[in-house]
Amino acid sequence: MKRLGVNIDHVATLRNARGEYHPDPYSTALQVVKMGADSVTIHLREDRRHINDLDAKKICKTKKVLVNLEISINEKIVNNALKIKPDYICLVPENRKEVTTEGGLNLVKYKKKLKIIIEKFKKNKIRTSLFINPSIKDVKLSKELNVDCVEIHTGKISNLVKSKKEYNKELNRIKNCSILANKLNIEVHAGHGLDYQTTKILAKIKEIEEFNIGHFIIGESIFDGLSKVIKKFKKIIKD
Ligand code: PXP
Repeated sequence: MKRLGVNIDHVATLRNARGEYHPDPYSTALQVVKMGADSVTIHLREDRRHINDLDAKKICKTKKVLVNLEISINEKIVNNALKIKPDYICLVPENRKEVTTEGGLNLVKYKKKLKIIIEKFKKNKIRTSLFINPSIKDVKLSKELNVDCVEIHTGKISNLVKSKKEYNKELNRIKNCSILANKLNIEVHAGHGLDYQTTKILAKIKEIEEFNIGHFIIGESIFDGLSKVIKKFKKIIKD
């Protein structure tokens, strides 16, 4: 059964726009799980532009929600994450000027560093995933790094689908990476830029076990309400 993780960073962005307390990411985390989400994702960025340390601590402390904490490979952040003890960690690249995570990790450049970090998380029994581009080479490198899961960056296919361009080549890339990762015993996740349409296309790939979706869910909730949107996504990934 495929799972849905809801990224609630944008709730924190909305809260921060007023510098006050509403809407509260912690209450949102509890609510989205009640509405059918299997987990929540929060990204504790180095610049703390949305989720802050207090949010992360509070959300990770509750046993009512499975939390996937996205972090960069910055040493301070990694040590901080070890203290916060989330259920899951997803390592992502981070660039201060980016609006959102623009691509997968550079596994070649950071192989040594990643190996040390992954071992630390494994010792702490934290399920760890690497956010990667849909590349066979990166799947093989992920295996060498002995990581539990890979999350395939779906930004490119999402943009192609949204702009009604040919997306089959990118879909095949994602499919082939998912098949290989599954063969290598690495759990496959997908995320970034997903809406109903692209999720429907990717849900046909049986090897993908988890979708992590944020911006579209929070945006669409303005029109349809969070509960309805989450239920619609759950139905799409189940069919
Ligand atoms: N997965 C990862 C690893 C991400 O970095 C993000 C964006 O923070 C998402 C999923 C969710 O992307 P979106 O908000 O575009 O759905």
